[in-house]
Amino acid sequence: MQVLIRKLQQEDSKNLRALKLESLEKEPLAFDTSYEAANNWTESEWMEIMNDYLSPSKSIFYVAESEEYLVGFAYMRFFNKEKKKHIIEFGTLYVKHEFRNKGIATKLFEKIIVDIRENHPEIIKIQNSVYEQQIEAIELYKKLGFKVYGEFEKELYVDGKYYKQLAMELFL
Ligand SMILES: CC(C)(COP(=O)(O)OP(=O)(O)OC[C@H]1O[C@@H](n2cnc3c(N)ncnc32)[C@H](O)[C@@H]1OP(=O)(O)O)[C@@H](O)C(=O)NCCC(=O)NCCS
Repeated sequence: MQVLIRKLQQEDSKNLRALKLESLEKEPLAFDTSYEAANNWTESEWMEIMNDYLSPSKSIFYVAESEEYLVGFAYMRFFNKEKKKHIIEFGTLYVKHEFRNKGIATKLFEKIIVDIRENHPEIIKIQNSVYEQQIEAIELYKKLGFKVYGEFEKELYVDGKYYKQLAMELFL
């Protein structure tokens, strides 16, 4: 199985939208946005989101592609405030079920790190937050060097239940 890790392109718009919807439907406890809300995005709302993903001053966005299909994505976003320009925030990370545990998320992360080191030497820290039940993600982030520095109680509310969020950070 050949998997290509590359930067997001405008031509990925339709496929990324479908994969993002899939991620929200299959992993309702992993992300802030609900499937229902995303499923109702208008074309212009989606274009606005896509423009942010593609904007080099706003985000660094990489996708994993296998046989012309997108099978995963990861992005980080800049804090565009003068006093926080040394920090980047992990936006999202997702790999399709059947492609998991093959190192794809790790490769997506590593590509972003190389990009940061080459193009954004001012960045010294990655901030990340993850909901407590995303065990795979928590273990992966720890393996990549992230440390938990805080916990936020009742940060996510899904189907009548509250979930805790862990705050993590990694110094480059
Ligand atoms: C988290 C996620 C992106 C990982 O993708 P992946 O391509 O399978 O990850 P990799 O193959 O690069 O890394 C595998 C590592 O993940 C962790 N992991 C994977 N499955 C695990 C499990 N069942 N239990 C504990 N840790 C697990 C381990 O650290 C593993 O490393 P190891 O094999 O050396 O133990 C994927 O599981 C996913 O999309 N999950 C749902 C969405 C999500 O939680 N996103 C993060 C939101 S903050």
